[in-house]
Amino acid sequence: MTDTLAIEAQQLSAAYHRKPVLNNISLTLPAGQWTAIVGPNGAGKSSLLKVVTGTLRPLHGELRIFGASAGQQRRAGKIAYMPQHEQMEWDFPVSVQETVMTGRYGLMRHDAWWQRLLPQRWANPMHRHAVEEALDAVDMREHATRPIGELSGGQKKRVMLARALAQQAEILLLDEPLAGVDPPSERLILAMLERERRAGRSIVMVTHDLPSARCHADQVVLINHTLVGIGPPGEMLSDAMLAQLAVGGSPSGGLHVAA
Ligand SMILES: Nc1ncnc2c1ncn2[C@@H]1O[C@H](COP(=O)(O)OP(=O)(O)OP(=O)(O)O)[C@@H](O)[C@H]1O
Ligand SMILES: [Mg+2]
Repeated sequence: MTDTLAIEAQQLSAAYHRKPVLNNISLTLPAGQWTAIVGPNGAGKSSLLKVVTGTLRPLHGELRIFGASAGQQRRAGKIAYMPQHEQMEWDFPVSVQETVMTGRYGLMRHDAWWQRLLPQRWANPMHRHAVEEALDAVDMREHATRPIGELSGGQKKRVMLARALAQQAEILLLDEPLAGVDPPSERLILAMLERERRAGRSIVMVTHDLPSARCHADQVVLINHTLVGIGPPGEMLSDAMLAQLAVGGSPSGGLHVAA
């Protein structure tokens, strides 16, 4: 564990079409830690991850990643992101391994120009190796050539996790990686994330699975539009804090959204 901050947000506020969703969120997530983000449906958890990935522009506030500008660090490939299942389109006609390979596209910028012109099966072996390793980590190698649309919900989730892993980024942002998976898959995913943390990665996981957060997270962030609390799981997941979380904040409390 280090003193470096993976993510540092100061007074972040965000809105969709002028409808406030995040209000004045300040938090620091140390590098090499596993953070669970917990809050009710509609609380703004996915929106917070979207602010970190740059797909939702904050209205106010500042975001720094490893002490540098968020945009710069995104371009440097420091962040891998697995969106929430419901936000994905599954009808595109690509295989499991091609889907995971899309996680390597950012890194392919560093390949020689002629390598980038080749069909995927002749891509730099380093990329194929990373894809195979990531599929092994989620036990999906045997499904590598199947169309992604054919898989069950839990299998798709594991493929999207493999896609995030294949990016070999320092921060893993995972939106509900445990939702809708069976108990053996859940154990597999949690063991895989433990390995990633031991390897020094910073894990940020949105979850409704409080026992897993209690057991695995180093810290828990409670969000209901505003920051309700941040601290060790034992404190944050107490009955008193969860009751406070349910009462929740207001998406607009004190936030002025320009007309
Ligand atoms: N693209 C969008 N356009 C407009 N409103 C949106 C959009 N995405 C989310 N919202 C709204 O923002 C609020 C927060 O949504 P968000 O998806 O961040 O919640 P969440 O905490 O991730 O919830 P869940 O636990 O259900 O995944 C909700 O009221 C939602 O309707
Ligand atoms: Mg969500």
